[in-house]
Amino acid sequence: MKKWLLALVAALPSLALADDFLISTPRTSLLLEGEPGQSLRILYYGDRVGSGEVGQVKASGVCSYSEAYPAFGFSYNPEPALAVELPDGQLSLQLVLDSTARQSGDGWTDYTFTLRDRKEPFYVKLHYKAYDRLDVIEMRAEVFHRLKRPVVLRQCASGYLPLRSTEAWISHLYGNWGNEGRLQQEPLTTGLKVIQNRDGVRNSHTRHAEVMFSLDGRPQERQGRVVGAALCWGGNYSLRVNKESGRQYDFLAGIDPLAADYHLERGEVFATPELAVTYSGEGTGQASRNFHRWARATHLAHGDRPRDILLNSWEGVYLAVDEAKMKGMIQDIAALGGELFVMDDGWFGRKYRRDRDNAALGDWEPDTAKLPGGIAPLAGEAKRCGVKFGIWIEPEMTNTKSELFEVHPDWIVCPGGRQPSYGRGGTQLLLDLSNPEVQDFVFGVVDRLKTECPDLAYIKWDANMSLVGYGSSYLPADRQSHLFTAYHRGLLNVLKRIRAKYPDLVIQACASGGGRANYGLLPYFDEFWVSDNTDALQRVYMQWGHSYFFPSMAMASHVSASPNHQTGRRIPLRFRFAVAMSARLGMEMQPRDMSEGERDFARSSIADYKTIRPVVQQGDLYRLVSPYDGKGVASLMYVSPDRGQAVFFAYKLEHFVAQEWPDFRMDGLDPGARYRVTELNLGGARAAGVSCQVFTGRFLMESGLSLPLSGEYASHVLRLERVD
Ligand code: DGJ
Repeated sequence: MKKWLLALVAALPSLALADDFLISTPRTSLLLEGEPGQSLRILYYGDRVGSGEVGQVKASGVCSYSEAYPAFGFSYNPEPALAVELPDGQLSLQLVLDSTARQSGDGWTDYTFTLRDRKEPFYVKLHYKAYDRLDVIEMRAEVFHRLKRPVVLRQCASGYLPLRSTEAWISHLYGNWGNEGRLQQEPLTTGLKVIQNRDGVRNSHTRHAEVMFSLDGRPQERQGRVVGAALCWGGNYSLRVNKESGRQYDFLAGIDPLAADYHLERGEVFATPELAVTYSGEGTGQASRNFHRWARATHLAHGDRPRDILLNSWEGVYLAVDEAKMKGMIQDIAALGGELFVMDDGWFGRKYRRDRDNAALGDWEPDTAKLPGGIAPLAGEAKRCGVKFGIWIEPEMTNTKSELFEVHPDWIVCPGGRQPSYGRGGTQLLLDLSNPEVQDFVFGVVDRLKTECPDLAYIKWDANMSLVGYGSSYLPADRQSHLFTAYHRGLLNVLKRIRAKYPDLVIQACASGGGRANYGLLPYFDEFWVSDNTDALQRVYMQWGHSYFFPSMAMASHVSASPNHQTGRRIPLRFRFAVAMSARLGMEMQPRDMSEGERDFARSSIADYKTIRPVVQQGDLYRLVSPYDGKGVASLMYVSPDRGQAVFFAYKLEHFVAQEWPDFRMDGLDPGARYRVTELNLGGARAAGVSCQVFTGRFLMESGLSLPLSGEYASHVLRLERVD
């Protein structure tokens, strides 16, 4: 083995003379090659290889030898990572390796490669952060220069990966309001596939910044090589995968370049968001589990804490909030065994009242006509009932009908001298978070609520508008193209301040439903609202799609009324609970409209959920039967890390005479262990015959269970406990 490789593998401090760089996680490896003055190249990303196998990888011919960060100019790169305009008007860069460094922290090592242009003092620091116990590598770039005048960054990707395959498929999420997170799987043919979002604020309604590439053809849950990628950025993005010809796809991801030229001053560092990548040699299922573990450990607020069971007031009362109703709901969720009550929209506004959705955003004072004593009596009632209290805000927004806008008309996003674009209610406006004064205001919204109501335990942070009417009266005329990026950096500043001062506050990311399911924001949020559509049948598809990239504990899933307010569909309470129990369980309805029998059912299912919560929220997900496969059923399960406990879910999605559905073969269990099966979520209904029986893990995985699914919307929730 070469000396430099030994140096790296043996964790010696300097990489200065290294030619090969092997970056490994427990089950994956990324191999780069380079030497000072030459280009840095990516050779391999896949199953872990030992330092002694590097020669074999190189000799095999399966290496890529692609530039690690292709810049526009000197070599032919149909999709460059970097495109700039230098002060003298030149557009070409030629990046070569300048130096390497390495830094380790608690459970991770960051490998840094500094690239430099052959002629100009223009630099890119490429970071690859690898975890000791998580199979994810985070890539990012830092760009800076020492030229006298600014350099314009026209395109600046977070990372690049060559994918070696002749028949790759892509799995990604698409959708719209009320139908978020739909799974799409398609072959990647020759040419360019772009996944892009340009909303400016809510970047995961229509498309998602996470993808999986199945390198061995059609995606399979348990087999095949898969590369997953998640761009951690709450703003506009562009994910591109290109195939020219041959056996390689080139994948790049970063901030979307449209209207986003960045003028980089001398000495300033432009830091891209992270691009987190994972590799699985065992299909899409393992790639998802890799993302979930990484998210819980590093990219989701409080990923190690159990989530409370809550009641949210929105679908129960909408904007017609008042003290009596809120107190009633607090008492009801407490009586059902819940742990938290969240008062949604409608509680604020004095001069302009929030009786419709066209006024008062920005005026975060309780409406004393609805809540004469303000928030304190509600927090007090929650305490008395033994539940926590939470509140809804939409702090990045205002309305033309608001006291805030009257005082600060220049705080909104709007091109100078023009009419702004209006959002919801025909009056909604977006605050310009590139402006530090606006950042202070938004921080102050949370700070004041917490100061006035220290018991406030939860915030639902909503965002219901796009960044339209592009323009900032804060940014100078020649820096208007910074707005998309500056908005999100401003938002991140605010979130960091909130987290520094209120580390225990639970915050939900809501954006007209699932508009903010993204790992750029989730480090500051405990969960996201999957969709404004609470129809349990449609939720099966949406939650399934999200589960490719996001752990169940981050997915807020609420039992709502029947008929459902969005689809009008009537679905039995048992099925509605079975779907919500597979993620972070909550309720979103008026409990006083429930019959006594329904309340009993809810009480018993909430109690059941408490017994499976650790496994659902912290366990490993195994997707068993996909709702997208047209079998009329869907099934998934969670298994605890020690494989001692598991929870199984099955849903009947179609209802026909003489219908056939498969036996349910489980996954992830210990084949040698014996498990007792107990059916939950029954209310008083009869359990399936398998309940209270003992089976070996091997039998459950090889033969599986046949479950009765005779009625419409039949469902099963089974708890498995190891008995030995
Ligand atoms: C949109 C959210 O997605 C809903 O859950 C609700 O909070 C409304 N906003 C309130 O206006």
